[in-house]
Amino acid sequence: MTNSNPLSARDPGAPVRGVGSSVAPREPAKMRDIAAGVEQLPLLPTIVLRVLRLNPRSDRYFEDLLALAEEDPTFAVRLIRLANAPTSAPAKPIVTIRQAVIRLGARECAGLVTALAVSRIFVPTTASHRHLWLHALQTAVAARTIARMLVGQKILPEQAYLAGLLHDIGRFVMFDGATEDLQRVDETHWHSPQQLLDAEHHLLGYDHVQLGDQVCHRWSIPTDITEVVKLHHDYDAPRAYGGAPIGSLLAVVQMADLLSARMMQTPEMADLDAIDLTADLSLHCSRPEWTQAPVAPSVLAQRVAPIRDEAAEMANRLLDAPPPGNGR
Ligand SMILES: [Fe+2]
Ligand SMILES: [Fe+2]
Repeated sequence: MTNSNPLSARDPGAPVRGVGSSVAPREPAKMRDIAAGVEQLPLLPTIVLRVLRLNPRSDRYFEDLLALAEEDPTFAVRLIRLANAPTSAPAKPIVTIRQAVIRLGARECAGLVTALAVSRIFVPTTASHRHLWLHALQTAVAARTIARMLVGQKILPEQAYLAGLLHDIGRFVMFDGATEDLQRVDETHWHSPQQLLDAEHHLLGYDHVQLGDQVCHRWSIPTDITEVVKLHHDYDAPRAYGGAPIGSLLAVVQMADLLSARMMQTPEMADLDAIDLTADLSLHCSRPEWTQAPVAPSVLAQRVAPIRDEAAEMANRLLDAPPPGNGR
């Protein structure tokens, strides 16, 4: 897919005003064109689907992931390159895929393989693309962090990471295939996920959740992640699932999404003192529809700066790597 990008360089969660008040809606028929665009998307490499289906609780997880990475020379080379990145700074150069997986960690490699594959399909070439990517990575890192803090380990942190990474995959499709639509939506200056959805419906007659659902089917993404893509803006859904793990996963990704939107809107919030940051998180990153927030804002407050920093490092490692010469 091409990546011409007429969008402004505004953050996907940047502050904005007056959703839909001054920009006229237009024919909603565009959804059909976009849906056709989804059909034209390259397929997700088979290796990624197999990685998504690995069980991180299995004793064989490391060996299984290693075997998969070794099967695909393109991923093997990229993982070795990432393991040798300046931020990793190994004492001795990493030269084998086994060393790379040990160095990076098997579970991190699963996220990296997925992110690498998606970044080949939605190549980040502009500041705007990078902002959307940073939002995806922040949400992934935040979801994993929150999952690790859950009492009783209801959901796997690696699963939360992947769900966070892919939750806005529909926005990537719009970015790539309907840049004008995306620009019109962003010109409404939305400042919360709900306002973003309202603007998409008002102006386009469809939203990125619908597109994301189609992408998940196109790529045969596992059910739990597809559910997150479909329901990540439905704040009643976690409660509707009762105590089922999918409800917990959904709430975790929703909280991570709200946190990332807030961080991108107000980057300096990560440096607030604990009391002010807790108040900010209570206001912007928790929802009344939830029976209970996945983690208390006062607990999450301690992890906000590390989440920001880890996602930024990940963005540098992932998005600054030389683009692959093939494999799309
Ligand atoms: Fe979204
Ligand atoms: Fe999002």
